[in-house]
Amino acid sequence: MYAKSLMRAFERAAEIILEADGRATALTGAGISVASGISAFRGSQGLWDKYDPLEFAEISSFKRQPEKVWEMLGEMLAVVEKAHPNKAHKSLAELEKKGLLQSLITQNVDGLHQAAGSRKVIEFHGATRHLCCLDCDWRWVNFKISESKSLPPRCEECGAILKPDVVFFGEPIPKWALLEASAAAEKAKVMLVIGTSANVHPAAEMPILTKRSGGRVIEINLEPTDLSGPVADLTILGPADQVLPEIIAACKRLNSNE
Ligand code: APR
Repeated sequence: MYAKSLMRAFERAAEIILEADGRATALTGAGISVASGISAFRGSQGLWDKYDPLEFAEISSFKRQPEKVWEMLGEMLAVVEKAHPNKAHKSLAELEKKGLLQSLITQNVDGLHQAAGSRKVIEFHGATRHLCCLDCDWRWVNFKISESKSLPPRCEECGAILKPDVVFFGEPIPKWALLEASAAAEKAKVMLVIGTSANVHPAAEMPILTKRSGGRVIEINLEPTDLSGPVADLTILGPADQVLPEIIAACKRLNSNE
C-alpha cells in the first residue's frame, strides 16, 4: 500500500494523461531499464563509474582505439541481449495500445520498448542491435554478440572494426529522430519523462518543447532532476516499474467511474 500523497499523485498523473485525450508522449532514459538488469550511466553503480565516457563513449576514442571501446561494448551488449522488458516498458506499451500514448522517445539503445510491444518508438540515440562500418557504410542488422565468433566484429566488405549504430558523444543525433522527436514533443499535451537524469542534450530539451507549446510534464524518477520544479508539473519519486503500473490502474479506475 502506498502513502495517501503517493496515491493522489498516481491519480493526478492519470487525470492529466486522460485529459490529453491521446496526445501524450514519453521520454525515457536508462532508469526505466534498471529493473531489467541494465545499469544506468550515472549515479551509484553507473556505467560511467566503471568506464570513463571520454575514453569509451566518445567518437574520437572509438576511431583511435576501437578494440579498447569494444571491451565496454562487449559487456554492455551481452547484458542488453539477455535483458527482458519490465513492467515499466509494458505499461507504456499498454498506454499506446489504449490510444493514450501517441509516441515514445527513448534515449535507450536496448530495444526493450519494442520488445514490450511499443510500436511508435523514436530511438534518439540509435540501437545496439545494428552495427555500422565507419569506412564503407556496410551495416550488420540484428547483430547478436552471443553468436559472434570473434570480437570486435569486422566489416565483411572492408575489414574495418564495426561500431554499434548508437550515438557516441561527439556524434549528431540522426536527423529524422531529432525531427520526429521535436515534432512529437511540440504537439504533445503531456510528456511523461521517465528514468532520465536530463543531463544530456538535445534529448533533455524535449520536455521543454512540450512546456513551451502549452503541454504539461510528468516526471518519474528515483530522485529530483533539473526538470523537477521549473519544468515538471508533477514529479513522482519512485521506481518506474512500480509507479507506472499504479498510474495505469488509476487510469482504469477513472475511466470506469465515468
Ligand atoms: N526508476 C526510475 N528512475 C530511475 C530508476 C528507476 N528504477 N533507476 C534509476 N533511475 C533514474 C536515476 O535517478 C537517473 O536520474 O534514472 C536516471 C538515469 O540517468 P542516467 O544514468 O544519466 O541515464 P540517462 O538520463 O538515460 O542518460 C542519457 O547519457 O550517457 C548518455 O547516451 C547515454 O542515453 C544516455 C544519456
